[in-house]
Amino acid sequence: MAVDLSLQWLGLSMASPLYNASGVMCRTRDELDAVAGSAAGAVMTKSCTLVAREGNPEPRYRATALGSINSMGLPNEGYQYYFDYAQAFDYRKPLFVSIAGMTLEDNLYMLAALRDLRLPCLPEVNLSCPNLPGKPQLAYDFAATAEALAAFCQVYPGPFGVKLPPYFDPVHFAQMAALLNRFDSLRFVTCINSVGNGLLIDLESETTLIKPKGGLGGLGGDYVLPTALANVREFARLMPEKHVIGCGGIKSGAEAFMHILCGATAVQLGTCLQEEGVAAFARIERELADLMAAKGYTTLADFRGRLKTFD
Ligand code: SIN
Repeated sequence: MAVDLSLQWLGLSMASPLYNASGVMCRTRDELDAVAGSAAGAVMTKSCTLVAREGNPEPRYRATALGSINSMGLPNEGYQYYFDYAQAFDYRKPLFVSIAGMTLEDNLYMLAALRDLRLPCLPEVNLSCPNLPGKPQLAYDFAATAEALAAFCQVYPGPFGVKLPPYFDPVHFAQMAALLNRFDSLRFVTCINSVGNGLLIDLESETTLIKPKGGLGGLGGDYVLPTALANVREFARLMPEKHVIGCGGIKSGAEAFMHILCGATAVQLGTCLQEEGVAAFARIERELADLMAAKGYTTLADFRGRLKTFD
């Protein structure tokens, strides 16, 4: 059975629903080129700030049998580096530019600069970095998020997206979805960023696995799959006019299938990509296609959002 993994959304064409999560394989030109040259369906840049950042002290990323913990602290080359990359990009596949200003003004400055370049890339504004000491994740402050989105829409007239942290309560899903639904040009939300401020410990040395923030860091991989699926499912249900991009715990065709079953338009790889490299894209695409064929599905639309429940 011929399986077609391609998709069209927001005027973009992707040969595959898989691409990199912001933060993984996307800090340098070489890494971005490796994703562009792989089987990934699109390319995402590292969340950028106005000025380049070294990030938090090492060790700041560790993988375990169940996933990963990181407190990178937004190491990046500064927005101009990624905007230059976007200008030189060949757009044979879509490019997303992740923006994570330290302040609202920084975000507005970068969005205005991107607007003025009139490029075919789309911004994903990161409202959810959990790794900046003393700085809470913006998207846990609903009033501040509403204010920021209103300001983004004033400055940036084109379609854009946001990267959200995980939410854990149906009331919060509903409140955030209602808020996001107020902004028409907000066209996609990426669910989820890492589950912030977990703590992993090396039993033998009785030491935290990473150094920043006393060992607290964002969890990825198997640790977060159920939370990611719940967020994709609830936001897809509550925001039928918007696209939800799934991120969290995808390491094979099975988890990619589950995210899409929950309503994800496309999906991003984080921990798995970090550990396996860009070969993960072709492998997971093969596995997803095999799974779809075994179930009798030929396109992603055949099962997207069709999760069954008992009620
Ligand atoms: C980081 O650089 O600390 C990770 C970015 C993020 O989780 O948003």
